[in-house]
Amino acid sequence: MQKLQGKVALVTGAARGTGAAIARLFVEEGGLVLLTDILEDPGEALAAELGPAASFQRLDVSLAEDWKRAVERCLGLYDGIDILVNNAAVLHIGALEETSPETMERLFRVNQLGPFLGIRAVAEPMRARGGGAIVNVASSDGVKGMNGVVAYASTKWGLRGVTKSAAMELARDRIRVNAVCPEAGNSDMTAPFLPPGVDAEWASQHNLGQILPAPEGYRIRDHLADIARMVLFLASDDCPTATGADWVIDGGLTAGYVQRGLPGS
Ligand SMILES: NC(=O)c1ccc[n+]([C@@H]2O[C@H](COP(=O)([O-])OP(=O)(O)OC[C@H]3O[C@@H](n4cnc5c(N)ncnc54)[C@H](O)[C@@H]3O)[C@@H](O)[C@H]2O)c1
Repeated sequence: MQKLQGKVALVTGAARGTGAAIARLFVEEGGLVLLTDILEDPGEALAAELGPAASFQRLDVSLAEDWKRAVERCLGLYDGIDILVNNAAVLHIGALEETSPETMERLFRVNQLGPFLGIRAVAEPMRARGGGAIVNVASSDGVKGMNGVVAYASTKWGLRGVTKSAAMELARDRIRVNAVCPEAGNSDMTAPFLPPGVDAEWASQHNLGQILPAPEGYRIRDHLADIARMVLFLASDDCPTATGADWVIDGGLTAGYVQRGLPGS
């Protein structure tokens, strides 16, 4: 039995990386998927590859009018919407004193305002359908502090707040809202900010395996597949009572630390 048989999903930032892995899995699981992104060519190409159950629509998540168009397209194509995955985001890495107000605002508009606009745009059509599921892709940077990510981390903390408030307000309409907090993602997102010579994929894998050793041969693409399965679980009818929660997927990095020299280390 496919987990999303007959369900309609809109996925943001679906042209590449984590969003592409989510869209691919959703189609494999019988979903009808509207892939959206500002990257039009790779988005169109992926939708074509995924076949008749997938379509692409340009959507800049920071623009309310784009959301209106995308939801109208979804309703026109599939007559409803059951699932929204707010996955699109942008990263900035820089010391706090070198991070400009403009950068703070740019990241806020995409990473926090974007999902807020998305939830506003789908609430009514989901209500009309008798319920739905919204999954916001946050980050492990949204559950801890770290140097160099003040702009990004604050939006991901904020997104967890949006998640919990929306979950409280939409529960009466049987719309569940959850946040997924991965440690790593597409290295194309992090690579532009790393010093020359540092391999972004190696760096992500190293962080991820610090506490819980990764399985033999585990690569970042496997982590993207893990995240996609967690998003699928939350979006499907497999957990009808989960809402307002943070689902961390980070190899134990935010749970605590192993104190060497003490028993159990
Ligand atoms: N890359 C990481 O290390 C990492 C770690 C933890 C969490 N995440 C989160 O995972 C999610 C997916 O990121 P990813 O790792 O796959 O990186 P990615 O850069 O491949 O994916 C982000 C996507 O969002 C799109 N996007 C950017 N601005 C947009 C806008 N204004 N409107 C619509 N789409 C826009 C991009 O074109 C891209 O396709 C993000 O929410 C990110 O914050 C990433």
